[in-house]
Amino acid sequence: MPQDADATAKWTEIASLARVPGASAIRPLFAADPGRAERFTFHADGVTLDLSKTSLSPEVLRALLGLAGMRDVAGRRRAMASGERINATEDRAVLHMALRAPRGTFRALERDGAEDASASVNDTLEAMRAFTLRTHADQPYTDVLNIGIGGSDLGPQMVVRALHRHDSPMRAHWLSNADGHAWEALRHQLDPARTLVLVASKTFTTAETMSNAHLVRDWLRAALGEAGDRHLVALSTNRKATAAFGVPEDQVFGFRDWVGGRFSLWSAVGLSIALSCGWRAFERLLAGARAMDEHFLAAPDAENLPLLMALAEVWHVDGLGYGTRAVLPYDERLARFPAHLQQLEMESLGKRVTMEGLPVAHNTGAVVFGEPGTNAQHSFMQLLHQGTTPVPADIVLVARPDHHFPASHRLLLANGLAQAEALLRGRDAEEVRAEMLKSGRSAAEVEALLPHRLFPGDRPSTTILIPELTPFTLGQLVALYEHKVFCLGALWDVNAFDQWGVELGKQLASAILPELSGPVGPGHDGSTAALIGALKRLWPEGTGQG
Ligand code: F6P
Repeated sequence: MPQDADATAKWTEIASLARVPGASAIRPLFAADPGRAERFTFHADGVTLDLSKTSLSPEVLRALLGLAGMRDVAGRRRAMASGERINATEDRAVLHMALRAPRGTFRALERDGAEDASASVNDTLEAMRAFTLRTHADQPYTDVLNIGIGGSDLGPQMVVRALHRHDSPMRAHWLSNADGHAWEALRHQLDPARTLVLVASKTFTTAETMSNAHLVRDWLRAALGEAGDRHLVALSTNRKATAAFGVPEDQVFGFRDWVGGRFSLWSAVGLSIALSCGWRAFERLLAGARAMDEHFLAAPDAENLPLLMALAEVWHVDGLGYGTRAVLPYDERLARFPAHLQQLEMESLGKRVTMEGLPVAHNTGAVVFGEPGTNAQHSFMQLLHQGTTPVPADIVLVARPDHHFPASHRLLLANGLAQAEALLRGRDAEEVRAEMLKSGRSAAEVEALLPHRLFPGDRPSTTILIPELTPFTLGQLVALYEHKVFCLGALWDVNAFDQWGVELGKQLASAILPELSGPVGPGHDGSTAALIGALKRLWPEGTGQG
């Protein structure tokens, strides 16, 4: 659908608001409105979103909400929830919300007639629950190894990293990269007799996952003979391929093609979470996501957390030209949260054509990166404070810790708050001069060092505050970002649910693979051909040259 005239007018309005001198300034907004913090802080079931430290003014926010109206975000949301095939380039519905919905909630229309999506979901959940409880009761395994990549690894691994405790039922391990070093390191830690192996792959064709799955199946069979196959579980939509691989039929947990890989941790792909953290944790994770779904579906635009985050991103990316965003969870347990968001956001929004296939008229997906605070401060925060281009930061704070070291938690929180405050307020010449003179520097030294020690300030950050990190609040947090991605797809008119951009590299890799141990065909660029030659010379025994 070409953007209609009203939406185009809104984009023009946003662009002209961004050109107003001082449009990126934040401090004057606080000075002009003592109630700004409260006015730009929003809540949903205990999740707090503070957008006040961005340059969103009431006028800018009004224009952005107008854009959301013109782009019919609400209508598109209804279309998603009712099972319309909004992933048009793959002719699929997008129903990850059905994965956490009570039975009977999602009567999604499938091609072959009406189907209650949540009924099939709940049947799978019931099977996962029974398997998890049986495994925990009988205790045949101490360790669970999840083999998968992308959404079949990042989401569950992030969650397990966040929720696993020393007394959790099973230890979890992860094999994702097509790199024998990873398996080499892992296999010495695992006892095949006590390890349950989950092969997580929506398609069950992903080269990296299948390569690792063969290595691990060989290891199980070498140690346990045919009984090794009983240690295999598959989490997949492709039952034919799981059977051909030797996974016992009663150990295949399925899902449907309307679950995108990066939205799949709530499906059978989350079995590693249930096994290693407990069924109750998995259930509460789904309940938290469900609570955020309900907020997203019902809250008015001006109070809708995912939409407001998306609008702030549009302002940053399109209005002000800030094409990168940092994610800084001030919680070690969320160490893999930035990695999960990298896939969720960049695979979804790294698009350059509209739903109609026309070139987009605006910038789209931001580059997302991050590390937990405070580690980030000793790594890349320098650039956020004094680099040439502002990089908006999401700062995630967890109020109450789950340990008995309150002083260390206070230190962590103080740093999270201080980073946001420093980005906002900066440091001017007067302040820097006074501090240096006080510390005994000469006037000449002060003037020489001054430019290096100034902080421009007015650098945006968004703070997300949750009361504590539990399965429920983690579910809320992840779903918040999922829905933000949906909103951005609607605002930018791109398909947030396909990922054609990953295909070319896969095809070229399968063409190059045989050439590493055989003749090299024509058609490579000079650099690639030369590098293949160099690899063959450097590793002759592995490339059929030895
Ligand atoms: O290559 C990208 C991708 O298709 C992701 O979208 C997906 O999460 C990942 O590969 C893994 O796919 P699968 O679960 O089918 O192995």
